[in-house]
Amino acid sequence: MTAVEFDTRAIRPGGLFVALPGERVDGHDFAAAAVAAGAGCVLAGREVDAPAVVVPPVPGRRTDTYLAATDPDGHGAAVLAALARLAGHAVAELPRCTVVGITGSSGKTSTKDLLAAVLAPLGETVAPPGSFNNELGLPWTALRAGESTRHLVLEFSARGAGHIAALAAAVPPRIGVVLNVGSAHLGEFGSTAAIAEAKGELVEALDDDGVAVLNADDPAVAAMGIRTRARVVLTGRHPNAHVRAEDVAVDAGRARFTLVAPGGSAPVALRLVGEHHVGNALAAAAVALELGATPDAVAHALSLAEPASRWRMELTERPDGVTVVNDAYNANPESMRAALSALASIGAGRRTWAVLGRIGELGAGSDAAHVQVAQDALAHGVDELVAVGAPEYGAPRDAPDVDAALELLRAELRPGDVVLVKASRAAGLERLAAGLLEGAR
Ligand SMILES: Nc1ncnc2c1ncn2[C@@H]1O[C@H](COP(=O)(O)OP(=O)(O)O)[C@@H](O)[C@H]1O
Ligand SMILES: [Mg+2]
Repeated sequence: MTAVEFDTRAIRPGGLFVALPGERVDGHDFAAAAVAAGAGCVLAGREVDAPAVVVPPVPGRRTDTYLAATDPDGHGAAVLAALARLAGHAVAELPRCTVVGITGSSGKTSTKDLLAAVLAPLGETVAPPGSFNNELGLPWTALRAGESTRHLVLEFSARGAGHIAALAAAVPPRIGVVLNVGSAHLGEFGSTAAIAEAKGELVEALDDDGVAVLNADDPAVAAMGIRTRARVVLTGRHPNAHVRAEDVAVDAGRARFTLVAPGGSAPVALRLVGEHHVGNALAAAAVALELGATPDAVAHALSLAEPASRWRMELTERPDGVTVVNDAYNANPESMRAALSALASIGAGRRTWAVLGRIGELGAGSDAAHVQVAQDALAHGVDELVAVGAPEYGAPRDAPDVDAALELLRAELRPGDVVLVKASRAAGLERLAAGLLEGAR
């Protein structure tokens, strides 16, 4: 409805330009340019040379936003807080729009994409592009919802305690999904108990007319049932789950299962790669069933859903018969294990390569976690383990950087090989995956 943008190139006539101090530039310096480009007004944290609503930093207000490093005076935090309130007011004006929040250590974006696909036939659905899930991306997405929107799907991320609570207070979800509690950002949180505490803030924010969709297969998530006033719907393979996967089978990395729900059962065959998507699909199914879909319709939509966000288990067959699995978007130990298991399934009877870069933000246990991943790779029967600039794996081979890894792989890959490329985003392995596919499409 409202055109709210933080990038002058995206401004539309009459839109609101949100000025934020970023890593490379400070949006406040572009206020006049934004107005020249058609913005009607600027939301700013300090005076700018354009018509603006200037919000002052409030003492004591949370300043540990994703901007922290570039926001010493809290101007950005003030702007983000104002943006969140604006989004909250705008969404509150849309009584026919159901807000669904998704959190978890892994799978938020995949689940968001699955859910958007499953909800689309039920009515207009607004979901973030990519992984817009922080103090900027979440309200920005929420401000995309309008009169005709029936579902607003939001991804809630957290780098610390209180982050999800603040976002959920601004734009309260009616349905909250918690996928899993893993070790993503363990370094910042300190312990997995602290991560569970933070993820659970989403279901604490639900009202008693809300629904908490909780993963019955993850004890730390199932335990969140007592932290919410909302009705709890359990998902998973666990026999107690209300929305369940039975007879799960994995073929060439893709899972098939029977979706079993109180309203009936239906077969699902996922196109997404990786058995871990079973849990994501069940969460999406549970939400859609709450919102009036039938099990048949849900199973059908899940089975048609293609990967929507890039670099997540993106599978490409090269003309020479080499299969490249690009999962370079990010990594934590759980998603590494999920990817290695998928590699083993895709590569059954073929030579498999795990080309892995560093997993960031693991804190004190980082080295041990890398060694554990290397052991998991071997346990999954991976034939060739190549670390890229990551000696902490203790891998048989360690290419110092992406170029060296490319050279090694170009020399050694043979028709029929399957190569998984995965690391935390900072490792930049998407360039390696692109290099492997050069001229192959
Ligand atoms: N339920 C899950 N359990 C483990 N790993 C997962 C799960 N869902 C997705 N992944 C993997 O985690 C990585 C990130 O997936 P994504 O959907 O972008 O999650 P998020 O948005 O939470 O970061 C990908 O490598 C993906 O294959
Ligand atoms: Mg994400």
